[in-house]
Amino acid sequence: MNPKRIILTGGAGYIGAHTLVELLAEGLDVLVVDDLSNGSVVALDAVRSISGCDFEFVPGDVRDLRLMTETFSGFRPEAVIHMAGLKSVAESVCRPVDYYDCNIGGAMSVLRAMKAAECNRLVFSSSATVYGEPLYLPYDEAHPTRPVSPYGRTKLFIETLLSDWAAAENGRAISLRYFNPIGAHESGLIGDSPTGTPNNLMPHILQVASGRSPALRVFGVDYDTADGTGRRDYVHVCDVAAAHVRALCSLEESPGHRVINIGTGASTSVLELIAAFETANHVKVPWMQHPRRAGDLPEFFADSRLGRATLGWAPTRDIERMCLDAWRFQKKQSDDPGR
Ligand code: NAD
Ligand code: WQD
Repeated sequence: MNPKRIILTGGAGYIGAHTLVELLAEGLDVLVVDDLSNGSVVALDAVRSISGCDFEFVPGDVRDLRLMTETFSGFRPEAVIHMAGLKSVAESVCRPVDYYDCNIGGAMSVLRAMKAAECNRLVFSSSATVYGEPLYLPYDEAHPTRPVSPYGRTKLFIETLLSDWAAAENGRAISLRYFNPIGAHESGLIGDSPTGTPNNLMPHILQVASGRSPALRVFGVDYDTADGTGRRDYVHVCDVAAAHVRALCSLEESPGHRVINIGTGASTSVLELIAAFETANHVKVPWMQHPRRAGDLPEFFADSRLGRATLGWAPTRDIERMCLDAWRFQKKQSDDPGR
């Protein structure tokens, strides 16, 4: 039986808000927990207007065990999607204790609250960063995991914890290893609006295209790739969101903990993404060469066959669509900076 009552942690964030839209479109009862450290009630209100549906929202830190236990026991979820956490690779190098505390502490608190609520079905937001230096490409799920950052190690540790938890609690869990989610909902009402300086490429492209920044710094033009710039597997955030609905439905199909890549299976270079953005949106994105960013890999992309086969999931939106949707969101934000 597919779960109908879902707790979504981190639902006010970038991927969370898009996932919330998908869950509500399926008619599911959803409760969101988010401490709003990097999410907003504006995004939650935007989800209400996109979907025409309501949901419960509990503001709070997932590490607050008493609040989580009360919330989970009161709502009685049939499954949990755990997305809340810190996500910057660079920041994790400077603040490892905060990352271990928030990400691992958060996951442990969620698992304890689930036990109190007699729920043992979980979908977890993991990351392609768990793989580390590629021994071969595309990365399949059997590729060795040697993350190079504290952030990546928190994700791998949680995956390991979930395997032990599933064995002990007769639990079922799926860790979705997202590659590089970009884009926004087609309404332009929700998208990636990081607080502070963005880390990722697309938010930087949006800043430059909208004139807030003079030029994009391209981190490395001397990689061993066709045009010398880094290549990544960009996947539309709405396709990532849809994967969560598929994962919820597939929890019953297999016991234990499984890991599944969520990427398209193709890679795009920094310069190709800039060109696609300019062509799709008829705006210029001036760029300049910059030295390589520490810790960056030349290229990585997913072997996405397992997700396609076991979840029945496939990405449906191409790079052009990712660029169009990201820019629509940015323009709406510029028109209404309060959102
Ligand atoms: P995000 O920062 O936009 O969303 C995370 C949400 O969690 C935010 O709304 C934040 O307020 C909330 N949060 C953080 N710590 C919390 C805590 N202790 N208690 C309650 N709420 C808390 O990030 P995102 O891009 O939407 O990522 C969602 C998840 O996916 C994260 O776990 C991230 O590590 C993972 N992920 C993201 C990417 C990516 O490129 N965006 C790639 C791979 C994996
Ligand atoms: C993409 C490409 C940069 C910014 C990170 C995490 C990963 C996942 C997604 C969470 C690279 C280049 C970037 C800029 C640039 N997140 N770039 N100028 O590093 O592949 O992945 O985010 O789990 O775990 O590691 O994504 O968007 O930062 O970079 O040239 O201003 O763009 O060098 O080649 P990355 P990114």
